[in-house]
Formats: sequence, C-alpha cells, structure tokens
Amino acid sequence: MISINEYLDEILEDFREYAESGEELCKLKGVHFDFRKIPDYSDINVQQLYLLRYAYAYAFEYKCMYLKLRKMLPDTSHISVTSVGCGAMIDCWSLRRAFPDSQIKYIGVDKINWHYKKHFYSCADDVGFLECDLADYITGDVAELTDVYIFPKSISELSDEALERMCLVIGDLAVYGETVYFLVSLRADPYNLDDDMDKTRKMYHNMIRVGFTSHDDPETSPHMEPDDKIRNLDSDFNHPSDVVDYLTCILPGLCTRVDTCSDSGDCVERLRRFPTLSSSLIRYQIFKFMKEA
Ligand SMILES: C[S@@+](CC[C@H](N)C(=O)[O-])C[C@H]1O[C@@H](n2cnc3c(N)ncnc32)[C@H](O)[C@@H]1O
Repeated sequence: MISINEYLDEILEDFREYAESGEELCKLKGVHFDFRKIPDYSDINVQQLYLLRYAYAYAFEYKCMYLKLRKMLPDTSHISVTSVGCGAMIDCWSLRRAFPDSQIKYIGVDKINWHYKKHFYSCADDVGFLECDLADYITGDVAELTDVYIFPKSISELSDEALERMCLVIGDLAVYGETVYFLVSLRADPYNLDDDMDKTRKMYHNMIRVGFTSHDDPETSPHMEPDDKIRNLDSDFNHPSDVVDYLTCILPGLCTRVDTCSDSGDCVERLRRFPTLSSSLIRYQIFKFMKEA
C-alpha cells in the first residue's frame, strides 16, 4: 500500500512539470476556501495543488475518524462505506489503515472524476466510483445501503435538498434493526464550522424523521485530536519536506506574470500557503443511527 508521502511525491513530480512550464499560474490562486470559495476541482493542476496542501492532513483526520468508528462497531470483519464527495479517495487509504484486516467495500461518489484516485484502489477489497452529482446518485436506483456514509470535507458543498433526499433513500433501504453511521469531517474555522454544523443538524433531524433513532447529539462540540504535528501523533506520517519546500520557497516565484501583474502581492501570498501539517484544524462528528420499529 502506498504511503501518503510516496503519493505526494508522485503528485509533486507532475505539478513541477506544470509549474515550471512557463505558464501563468493565476488559476492556482483559487485554491482556498476563504469567503465560501470553492476551488475549480475539474482542473488537474488545481487538484495537484489541493492534494499537495491538504492530502497529508486529511488522510490523518479521516484515519482518526475511522479509528473512532472502529471502536463503536460490534463486528469489524466486514465494512461497507459510501464516500460522498470522495474526490481523490484519500479516505479510502485512511479506511484501510484503520481496518487493516477487514473485508472492505468502498463506493466513492463525486460529480468530478478526480485524477490521483487509482493509487488508492488497492486499499479496499471492492472499490466502485460513480461520477455523478449526489442528487442524481440517490434518485438513480443505483444507491445501495452501506454501513457507513462519510462526508470527507464535502458537506458544505452538498445541497440541503440532496441531503434530505439521501436520508429518505437510506430510510427506505434500511430494514428494522439496521444501523448506519454518518462520519462528517468539518471545516474548523468558526465561520465555516457553524455552516457545516448547520448542515449536519438538518441531516440528523432528517434521519430521525425517516425512522432512525440516535443517542448522539448534533449540537455538541465536534471531536478534535491533540494539537500537535501530525508526524508526532502517527508514525504513518513523515514530514513531507520536498512538498513543503517546493510550495513555500519555489512556487511563489514561478509565475511568469509575477513582475507585471497588478495583483502580484496577493498572488505571492496565496501561492506561498503552507501545506497543513498539524492536527489543529481537525473537527469531525460521528453519528450512529438505528432503524427501529
Ligand atoms: C473539498 S472537496 C473534498 C474532496 C475529498 N473528499 C477530500 O477529502 O479531499 C469536496 C468534494 O465534493 C464534491 N462535490 C461537491 N458537490 C457535490 C455533489 N453535489 N455531488 C457529488 N459530489 C460533490 C466535489 O466535486 C469535491 O470533490
């Protein structure tokens, strides 16, 4: 199984080719989430920069979530997961790290067919990817019931209507006595956290409305991990030196417009952003829902 550092090294090689090709790098300025910004994930170079900045920390966060889930499961021999907004399927890597000996079925759903997914196909015993909008996925008779639904940094981008419909479909598919788990990774800054928790609150109440009970409270503070460098918390992670050096020291000076662009101060600041290497931004919620008669 590929390590996250090997994964990043491969992406860095491709990214360097683009960044050093003499092109303007303006489109990379859009890789951030400030002011409700959503990067253009359909662009391969945007994907590369996104993954170089965030895949390391997200892989760790999703592993923490799956490890916490593991402690809640009565039987870990099999697990089936639907990842909504799976992107490059980073969470499939984390799933395998948390469930090394389990039979894993993983279904990724995303409206964008990301590059850099295939590296993680071997992490599950059975992997499927559906390139479709959540709204189409759940109305298309292909949705199947899985033990777990994970929203890996995607909840903010999904409409209330699609999420409500998804709960309805899960309610129809589940028989009495069935249990499903929702794992939601949230954005940590207070402004976005409120937005994301508003979504999970609505989703929680939709699940109750369609016949599930839960002892979890959508109003409580989300889980955090101890605040430290990720490499100090988990030996699966080593400091990605090449990525950090490239993104912070080399990339900001590569844009061919940097000397003439009226916006160059802002560009350099945006291009110089550090990859996330600590656990300080980890926030997530886990809900257990039981379908009762
Ligand atoms: C912030 S990215 C997270 C990607 C990935 N899960 C990760 O951990 O890096 C949000 C993802 O949600 C997907 N997404 C947004 N709206 C969607 C929708 N309506 N249906 C399916 N996927 C959607 C986007 O295409 C994107 O890949």
